[in-house]
Parts: sequence; C-alpha cells; structure tokens
Amino acid sequence: MQPHRSALILLALNAGIALAHAAPGDAGRGAGVFDSQCAECHSLKEGKNKKGPSLFASFGRKAGTVADFVYSEPMKQSGIVWTADRLAAYLASPKTVVPGGKMKLDEPINQQDIADVIAFLAIPRAH
Ligand code: HEC
Repeated sequence: MQPHRSALILLALNAGIALAHAAPGDAGRGAGVFDSQCAECHSLKEGKNKKGPSLFASFGRKAGTVADFVYSEPMKQSGIVWTADRLAAYLASPKTVVPGGKMKLDEPINQQDIADVIAFLAIPRAH
C-alpha cells in the first residue's frame, strides 16, 4: 500500500471516531429527557435548588459551586468542570465519576438520552 493512501485511510478513520465521539445530541429531545429523568431533582432556574442543585448555567461551570446547596464532600473536592465529556461520563455512572457522591439516577440513562440532555443543558439561558 502506498504511504499516501494509508495516511488518508487513517485520517478518515480518525474523522469517524471523532464524529462518533461527539454524537450530536438533539436539544429538543433533550428537554423531554430532562423533564422525565432530571426535573424531579433539578431546576434550570438560577438559585432554585431542589434535591439536587440548580443546573442554571451548569455547562462549563466548576462542579460543586452552586451557592446554598449542600454538596457531598467528594463533589466539592472533585475539581470537575462540566464539559460535555465529563457530564456524559457522570450521567452514565455518577458513582464512578464521583465516588461517594450524592446523585443517584432513578434508572440508568442510555447514550442517546445522555447526548440529547447535554445538548439541551448547553443552551445558554437568560437569568
Ligand atoms: C434523585 C435526584 C436526582 C436526579 C434524578 C438527578 N440528579 Fe443530578 N444531582 C443530584 C444531587 C443530590 C446532586 C449533588 C451530588 C453531590 O453533591 O454529590 C446532583 C448533581 C448534579 C450535577 C453537578 C452539579 C454541580 O453543581 O456541580 C449535574 C451536572 C447533574 N446532577 C445533572 C443531572 C442530570 C442531567 C440529570 C438527569 C439526567 C440528573 N442530574 C438527575 C440529584 C439528582
């Protein structure tokens, strides 16, 4: 095989992996996932904490920093910044990403729902 050709194949492979990795979420569907799987414990309103902290502007924020919410120590110490990747890992298995943390999902959430709810959370919201 010509070196040029194998490089091209590698490039195509990489692009494929990158695409699969960034599984584009559907924010519209994500709103429904949020309502059914998150809203019981989380509000998107600033300052409104429920069983879980307000998720207002949670995207890109440092974990464990909502005022007036009593986090677990492990969450406060986690040093996590909520990027799409960290959120995806946390939602897939909260106790693996933050051992000793307080969040427990009612039922496991599938990869598509995770991608969709992340797309929904990433939408900037007015105060
Ligand atoms: C049964 C209640 C419950 C449900 C359901 C729930 N959460 Fe949570 N969530 C919590 C609690 C409690 C914490 C705080 C965890 C800690 O302090 O260890 C938390 C923390 C978080 C954090 C970290 C927030 C921060 O300020 O650092 C994110 C992000 C999050 N949840 C997203 C979600 C999403 C998205 C869903 C739905 C797919 C969801 N949660 C479902 C209770 C819940």
